[in-house]
Amino acid sequence: MKDVFEKREIAFSPPDISELEIKYVSEVLRSGWITTGPKTKLLEKKISEWVQGYKGEGSPRCVCLNSATAALELSLRVLGIGPQDGGSKDDEVITCAYTYTSSASVISHIGAKTVLVDCSDEAGSLQIDYEKLENAINERTKAIIPVDLCGIPCDYDKIFSIVEKKKSVFKPDNDIQKAMGRVAVVADCAHAFGACYKGTMIGSVADFSNYSFHAVKNFTTAEGGAILWNHIDGIDDEEIYHKLQLYSLHGQSKDAFSKNKIGAWEYDIVGTWYKCNMTDIMAAMGLAQLERYPEMLKRRKQIIEQYDKAFKPLGIEVLKHYSENITSSGHLYITRIPGINREQANEIITKMAERGIATNVHYKPLPMHTAYKKLGFNISEYPVAYSKYVNSITLPLHTKLSDEDVEYIIKNYCEITREYLDNCN
Ligand SMILES: Cc1ncc(COP(=O)(O)O)c(C=O)c1O
Repeated sequence: MKDVFEKREIAFSPPDISELEIKYVSEVLRSGWITTGPKTKLLEKKISEWVQGYKGEGSPRCVCLNSATAALELSLRVLGIGPQDGGSKDDEVITCAYTYTSSASVISHIGAKTVLVDCSDEAGSLQIDYEKLENAINERTKAIIPVDLCGIPCDYDKIFSIVEKKKSVFKPDNDIQKAMGRVAVVADCAHAFGACYKGTMIGSVADFSNYSFHAVKNFTTAEGGAILWNHIDGIDDEEIYHKLQLYSLHGQSKDAFSKNKIGAWEYDIVGTWYKCNMTDIMAAMGLAQLERYPEMLKRRKQIIEQYDKAFKPLGIEVLKHYSENITSSGHLYITRIPGINREQANEIITKMAERGIATNVHYKPLPMHTAYKKLGFNISEYPVAYSKYVNSITLPLHTKLSDEDVEYIIKNYCEITREYLDNCN
C-alpha cells in the first residue's frame, strides 16, 4: 500500500464502472437490439419506482433521454412555453445566475426570455435568493428552474409557497398551464439523483424533475438523463409520456422497436421535432448503476464527512450537504477560502495539480460568459454569485477514491491553503 506522503495521481471525477455494468452492456450488445427498447423502458420503470420508494405514495412517471439538457428543454416544451409551442416569445423562465449553462440555455432553445436571479448570501449555500426570486415573478413568468447544485436540494417548500402566493398574476396560455394554475417548478436536479428533501426523493418533489447521467455524474449512463413528473390534475400522464416520446424521436408515431416488428413498418411524422432518445446500451449501464447506487451514495457521504471534519475547523467554507431536512446526493464538494481572490484560488489549483490532485471550479456565474453577456446580463448585477465564485475550489469527490486518497487530498489541501488562510486571519 502507498504511503499517504507519497505522490498520488487523483482524477477529478472518473466514472465508477464495475464488472456488472460491463456484463449488462455486453448482454445488450449481444442481444441484437442496441437502441431504445426494452432496457430503456425497464430503466424508466425502475427509476420511477426507486424515486417513489422513499415517499411510498404516488409514483412520478419517467422518460429516459440522452441528457439533462434535453430533459429540461422537453419539460419546458411539454408545458407549452415559448413561441414554438403556442406560447409567446415574451414568456419568461427564471433560473439562478450561479449554475451550469444548461439550466438557462434551454430557455433560449424554446425561444422564451431568460431571467437570472442572484444567489442567496447565506453561508454554506449556493441556492437562489428566494426573495429576489419572488420579486422576479410577473404575469409573463411561466416556469422557474431551481437548481439542486452539488446534489443539495433547494428549499422546495419556500419555492412552492412563492408560486402559490403569485398565483393571481399567472396567465395560462394552454390546457396544461390552466390545469396547473401557477408558475411551474421545473427542477434542474442534474446533480441530485438520490437526494432527498424532507423525506421525499428529489425526482418527485418538483412538478418536473430533470436528472443528468453524464459521465462525470454520480450515476452515469455515459451520456444520459431523465425527466420525471408528478401527476397534474386534469392532465393525462399517458399523454405527457406519449408527447415526450414524439418530441425525443423526430415526432415519429412509432419508435424503432415497434416499427421493427414484422409487417409493422408504417408510421407518420406528426411534428418536425427532436432526436434525444436514450439507447438500450446506455440503459443497461444505468440498470447496473442503480443496483450499486445505495452503496455509492453511502461512500460519498463518508468522504464528505471526512472532508468537513478536516476543513471546517481551519475556516475553509464548505456547503451543508446534510441536515434534518435534506440529504444530498454528494455530487460536488465545493470549498471557499475566505478573503482570497480568483488569482490566488487558481494558484491553489495549480499547487494541488503539482501534487497530482485534479481540482475544478463550479461555477463561473452565467453573466460572466460571452453568450450571457450577449443576452444583456452583467455580472455587476449579481454581486453574491460573483463573491461566491471568486474564492471557490472544488475537490475530487467520487467513489473511486480510497481512504488513503482522501487522506492524501486532505493533507495536501490543508498544507497548501494554510498560508492563504493565515494571511486572511
Ligand atoms: C447544473 C447542471 N444542469 C444541467 C446539466 C446538463 O447535463 P447534461 O450534460 O446531461 O445535459 C449539467 C451538466 O453538467 C449541470 O451541471
